[in-house]
Amino acid sequence: MYAADEQRALYQLSKELLYQPAAQTLFDDPASRMADLCKVLRYHEWRYYVQDDPVISDFEFDQLFDLLRKLEAQHPELVAPDSPTQRVATDWSGAFEQVPHLTPMLSLDNSYDAQDLMDFDTSVKKWCGLDKEAKVEYCVEPKYDGGTIALVYENDRLVRAATRGDGSVGEDITANIRSLKSVPLRADFSQYGIYKAELRGEALIQKAFFEKMNAKRQEMGEPLFANPRNAATGALRMKDPSETAARGLEAFLYQLGYAVNEQEQPVTHPFQTHDDSIHLLEKIGFKTPLTKTAAHQHLPATRTCAGIEEVIRFCSEWQEYRDEYGYELDGMVVKLNSIELQSRCGYTNHHPRWAIAFKFKARQATTRLRDVEFQVGKTGAITPVAKLEPVHLAGVTVSNVSLHNADFIAAKDIRIGDQVLVERAGDVIPYIVKPLEELRTGAEIPVVFPEICPFDASGQVRLQRAEEEAAWRCPSCTCGRQDYQKYVFHVSKSAMDIEGLSKATLERFIQLGWIRSLVDLYRLDYDRIAELDGFGKKSAENLRAAVEKAKKNPIHRLLHSLSIHHLGQKASKLLAAEVQHVLELRNWDLERYQEIKDVGPVLAQNVFQFFQEEQNVQLLKVLEAVGVNLHQTEEDKKPASNTEGPLAGKTILFTGTLEQMSREQAEKRAASAGATIASGVSKNLNILVVGAKAGSKLKKAEALGTVTIWTEAAFMEQTPVEEGAS
Ligand code: IVH
Repeated sequence: MYAADEQRALYQLSKELLYQPAAQTLFDDPASRMADLCKVLRYHEWRYYVQDDPVISDFEFDQLFDLLRKLEAQHPELVAPDSPTQRVATDWSGAFEQVPHLTPMLSLDNSYDAQDLMDFDTSVKKWCGLDKEAKVEYCVEPKYDGGTIALVYENDRLVRAATRGDGSVGEDITANIRSLKSVPLRADFSQYGIYKAELRGEALIQKAFFEKMNAKRQEMGEPLFANPRNAATGALRMKDPSETAARGLEAFLYQLGYAVNEQEQPVTHPFQTHDDSIHLLEKIGFKTPLTKTAAHQHLPATRTCAGIEEVIRFCSEWQEYRDEYGYELDGMVVKLNSIELQSRCGYTNHHPRWAIAFKFKARQATTRLRDVEFQVGKTGAITPVAKLEPVHLAGVTVSNVSLHNADFIAAKDIRIGDQVLVERAGDVIPYIVKPLEELRTGAEIPVVFPEICPFDASGQVRLQRAEEEAAWRCPSCTCGRQDYQKYVFHVSKSAMDIEGLSKATLERFIQLGWIRSLVDLYRLDYDRIAELDGFGKKSAENLRAAVEKAKKNPIHRLLHSLSIHHLGQKASKLLAAEVQHVLELRNWDLERYQEIKDVGPVLAQNVFQFFQEEQNVQLLKVLEAVGVNLHQTEEDKKPASNTEGPLAGKTILFTGTLEQMSREQAEKRAASAGATIASGVSKNLNILVVGAKAGSKLKKAEALGTVTIWTEAAFMEQTPVEEGAS
């Protein structure tokens, strides 16, 4: 429908409308500006609803839509009859009978920050005729991201279920909804004098169930669902209700939209507030925002707030918590609690004036990949880093994103100059989801991964790649970059935790020639530091105190700080518990390492190797000479068994190309969750995590039939990252 060059132009225009309003003719030519907005919005609707593959974030879409709405309000004479604002989006599939709703199903107005919510509160008070200073009670509940449903009960029986449709007329999906166990076929409304009721809600699929379903589909070679929402809306429209039932849908009801007695008179006496009505639904057997589910443990899903300040606090708590919740949410909904005040506010033809959605910050955005640079990591791996045109994502500006390794770039066919989709979800580091291939102009340049170390002065050092590893490494780093990364890691919070040695300070000290080895970190000249620009006596003294404190660290921190490949915090603790002095490890053979439960063969080999190298032993001796503790402390003796964590006692293996993290990060994450990294697929393997292009390992695991197979997303879901983990 849209040719590639047309798509490129529309995408470009959208970004200009969003980010360079000054360059446009906002004030002199509203008509052409409005025509532009209509054009791009239609395109994005097509990408979103028809192609199921949006190229801008929901937030960006909403902003374009709001812009058009505002201009149309200022120039009503210019509103095009086919403007996207004039059309109510429908979800009609044509496969079901159409049925009118008892009351129109309206949309919600949107808010994005505290100021928007305060403005909402001000308008509510104005509509209600209340004093500016008055405190109004609001209910805040999740904005579920699934398929909207309307249920009609008559004489206590479920008589009809419908999709939202265009808001006035929906599609009759009663047979499908009857297959959902969470929807009671009978509910005792009559005890409240209610003869006929219409309830609004959302049919959802739990994220964990969704992942399992997708993993199964992957195994069977069936196409995967894009996200739980798509899977849910699709499930509502199955021809065969037993297929709906198999998709694990759950219905949450959040609004009692219509309630009348046998004489068709409105019934409100059993519920004077929204809160009461939800309690009522909960009591007679519905899942509501009040229902405690295994999928949310920490925050209650709903709160009745005394005033907008409490609303703002609760919304921002949820913004942080959303990824831990078992269902997809795209925000929270704030509803005026009193039904009487609600009726004073009334409705626009688009939304109720007594409610507003608080939209969470977008997690995806598109931007241009300007260049790819290479960096050296602490283990010598050459890591490609994407240099992006800065883009705002979930509250931070993102301009550098790791591309992990050559396989990752090749698997995704990422090219310099590409428009790329970037995502940042919760605790996950921003990553590139995919390039937008249809927006290519032909001028994009493939990324060439170096074969020779780009930093070695001789230009002769070939990068090497170990078997079974994705990373290319410089075998003999002499440029200082690897050492620099080692220092950065050594002083970091999870290692020796030396506050005051920021990256900038480290760089400065290195340039001054004050740091040439790890040992130098412990014999700094604080008098000279005090004389440096931007330092002074106080900060020099603070630094001294931090360094002196670090010298006394338990040895598990020291072990972790040495940048031994694969040696994470947990394994460092396990080792530290076994020795009275770090240098005892010199005398350990490979088998001795493997006697420690949860130390796998690869890690054992790495630590063994480290302690066989004389220069490392020397380094530790000199560290001890400058005062760094090498003796086991009381803290080190505490058992750091891997009996904790969601994957405790499990063996895990990764195969194929991971999308959201490097293999190394994934293994670290698995280890922190208590799992042991296996060396291959065998009877002893518990979990196989499959990335893109998984091959023989997946086949072997499937043949064994005893291995649990997870997608990468399922793995992330099962292994929430600890606070402050690096
Ligand atoms: S109340 C008149 N509450 O969001 C009441 N809607 O963007 C209007 N939604 O069409 C709806 N969770 O499908 C309400 N807790 C919640 C919701 C919710 C999700 C959906 C609903 C609505 C859309 C508006």
